[in-house]
Amino acid sequence: MTESKKILLIVSGGIAAFKALELIRLLRAKDYGVTCVLTRAGAQFVTPLSLQALSEQKVYSELFSLTDESEMGHIQLSRSADLLVVAPASADILAKMAAGLADDLASTLLLATDKPVLVAPAMNVRMWQHPATQANLATLTVRGVHVVGPDEGAMACHEFGPGRLSEPQAILAAIEALLTGGKKPLTGRHAIVTSGPTHEPIDPVRYIANRSSGKQGHAIAAALAALGARVTLVSGPVSQPEPPGVAIRRVETAREMLQACEAALPADVFVGAAAVADWRMAAEATEKIKKKPGAAPPALTLTLNPDILATIGQIKKNRPRLVIGFAAETDNLLANAAAKRTSKGCDWIVANDVSPATGIMGGDENAIHLVTATGTEDWPRLHKEEVARRLAARIVEEFQK
Ligand code: C5P
Repeated sequence: MTESKKILLIVSGGIAAFKALELIRLLRAKDYGVTCVLTRAGAQFVTPLSLQALSEQKVYSELFSLTDESEMGHIQLSRSADLLVVAPASADILAKMAAGLADDLASTLLLATDKPVLVAPAMNVRMWQHPATQANLATLTVRGVHVVGPDEGAMACHEFGPGRLSEPQAILAAIEALLTGGKKPLTGRHAIVTSGPTHEPIDPVRYIANRSSGKQGHAIAAALAALGARVTLVSGPVSQPEPPGVAIRRVETAREMLQACEAALPADVFVGAAAVADWRMAAEATEKIKKKPGAAPPALTLTLNPDILATIGQIKKNRPRLVIGFAAETDNLLANAAAKRTSKGCDWIVANDVSPATGIMGGDENAIHLVTATGTEDWPRLHKEEVARRLAARIVEEFQK
């Protein structure tokens, strides 16, 4: 079955490049055809000869080699494969891919290809966690590039954390999953995600709102869509770009947000990441409230907004299998999050400490505790895109149970 499947394996720089040899061995044992492309940095760690010996194919490394061009043009090379795999994928090659650079053979092939691409990142933990790398990865994920790993563990640079290349067996499993029909783990599932603030009008020109960029909610919608889910993103007013492949419902008020969520049911998973305004005006003024010299400021009479998360969590008909909420707290984080989980009838709470000392509020990073019925998982401090990808992966795990 697998003889006809061809893999173009791009080996970029990094101490983990030696693991590419084991990957080639595993692929060849399953009769996949493997053609290797070695970047200049990759060649510092493994030799073309060892790649050639294991793949039993010529190894390509220079863009402007005339012999290679006459034997096989780089466009043809990138298209004759069924799948392009970058393992290890350094921070540098991910940046080139995200920017669309084509200044060597590997990056040119990646830009010229019309085939699926899988990357297996490997780098120092700080490089992995750097906002530039995370932003590049989010861009690539949204464009449909598949990602495996990295793993967490001790690194060659004596640091500990995420950044280790996935084990060759895990990369092989990801390759096989992609080659056997391209069915993604959340294909056939429907997810509803709320994101951003709500705006509650005071009068035609003024409103009440919470601060929210929509960054986390939009990243979650993108991560779920990248795993094959059909996603309805119910978003308050934000300036985030629309994640591709996601059906967006733009709303303004909490009541509109609730209505849009209910209309989008049934769903398999609901993620309430919006910062919904708790109150709205008891009676919205139909005309602009005038500022009269010498007069007392107007008293705003407020009324409670519906709690969208609690409504979906406790809905009688069509309750999603997984209802996930967020809890940003400044004190007694875990106790408050656990109480919120039960009082709102949701399955998981993504809790984060937003007390000023953490510097999380308004930042790009988040330190998460995932509170479930069985306990609490403490996640390391991660960028919001990475939080989204992890949460999406946890949702997959739950559906595979
Ligand atoms: O009660 P609190 O605002 O802390 O709860 C936060 C969680 O509840 C978030 O998931 C938020 O999206 C959701 N929420 C909601 N509707 C509200 C208030 C909060 O869906 N009116």
